[in-house]
Amino acid sequence: MRQPLLSEGAKELSYEIREIVKKAEQIRATGKTIYWENIGDPIQKNHILPEWIREVIADLARKNESYSYCPSKGILETRRFLADQTNQRKGAVITAEDICFFNGLGDAIGKVYQYITPTSRVIGPSPAYSTHSSAEAAHASHEPLTYRLDPKNKWYPDLDDLYNKVKYNPNVVGILLINPDNPTGMVYPLDVLKQIVGIARTFNLFLLCDEIYLNITYNGAKTYALSDIIEDVPGIAMKGISKELPWPGARCGWMEYYNRHVDEDFSRLCQAIDNAKMIEVCSTKLPQLAIPILLGDPRFKEYREATNQKIGRRSKLISGILGAVPELMFNETFGAFYNTIIFKPGTLKPGQKMNIEDATVQALVERWVADPIPLDKRFVYYLLGAKGVCVVPISSFCSELHGFRVTLLEEDEATLIHTFTAIRDGLIEYLRS
Ligand SMILES: Cc1ncc(COP(=O)(O)O)c(C=O)c1O
Repeated sequence: MRQPLLSEGAKELSYEIREIVKKAEQIRATGKTIYWENIGDPIQKNHILPEWIREVIADLARKNESYSYCPSKGILETRRFLADQTNQRKGAVITAEDICFFNGLGDAIGKVYQYITPTSRVIGPSPAYSTHSSAEAAHASHEPLTYRLDPKNKWYPDLDDLYNKVKYNPNVVGILLINPDNPTGMVYPLDVLKQIVGIARTFNLFLLCDEIYLNITYNGAKTYALSDIIEDVPGIAMKGISKELPWPGARCGWMEYYNRHVDEDFSRLCQAIDNAKMIEVCSTKLPQLAIPILLGDPRFKEYREATNQKIGRRSKLISGILGAVPELMFNETFGAFYNTIIFKPGTLKPGQKMNIEDATVQALVERWVADPIPLDKRFVYYLLGAKGVCVVPISSFCSELHGFRVTLLEEDEATLIHTFTAIRDGLIEYLRS
């Protein structure tokens, strides 16, 4: 008989943020308008890039040399520019050799776990951003290993939970943080980051910090980068332009390796990641050419600050609409552009309903909820059918909590208010049905 075709780890690959789109498309096909709250793509939510940014990219696209391959780790001048930006923060010191480019951070995430021994684990936050948790679980052929972010404490990590899981599991070799966090919008405070560095030092672990939202904070918050606080611990920061420019379609992100010299094993992992990129030849070149021009332009900082302020304003509007619903655990957000809203225990029950006017849509939703599914997913399907709002259930983010993730991206204020009022009205009707 033939040997099995599929690896054990393949069953860990899931991404509800896009899976839910298949359901929403079926509802859209009946003629209903869908309000897409499932994915963090600012452009899809009507964000217009400033003309000067598009001009820079258009000029680069006119040059013939933009169309060739580039060095495997990325364009040297761009890596020097980025190393210099990190070094100006006066924390970890790196050179261009400590940077490697990828086709979006999604590609980097796919590679970072792949070359770690299958029995060695990287513990990550729960709720988890599925690209990380799925890739890590697939490498280990085992379900994700997580520490708890606590919705009763502003979504800060439960450091006792992290400490104990690390202490009693000798397979843990690294800790993942996402700062600012997706899906909660939490920004790690300095003292919490320092304690995590302490845990990594005590147990000889490396730190992995996804900083794709590093410069997206608002309402008075500021992110401390891994390079600011890492001291002598080995670590990797993961950065990109999908969210901050934003240019998600560029598929461009990079890793920065810190303190390679202190740990040979860690250094070999970084080398293996570089080699994995080398056998692929290289990553997207045009966005790499654009990075020093755009990020080095004084207009960029102003533009980013103005865009952050708008996200902050939306976060306040959403708080105003959803913050006072007594059945919800609602936290204000300070970074990235998502909020995760949790149902208090016992509020979601099987059999709850929302009125769906269209009989075809009602039949579809009733079919989807006929099989046993998590209670928050059941709510999400009703919300989609009744109000046309597409959110993502939190049980799909490796969490035992029930809730849903929304984005803070809708540029049109009237649409934003309409969408979140529809969510509030729908959930009140559902919870009290
Ligand atoms: C925390 C986090 N990391 C990585 C990514 C993927 O980024 P990219 O578009 O660069 O692949 C996302 C996208 O939503 C994200 O939220």
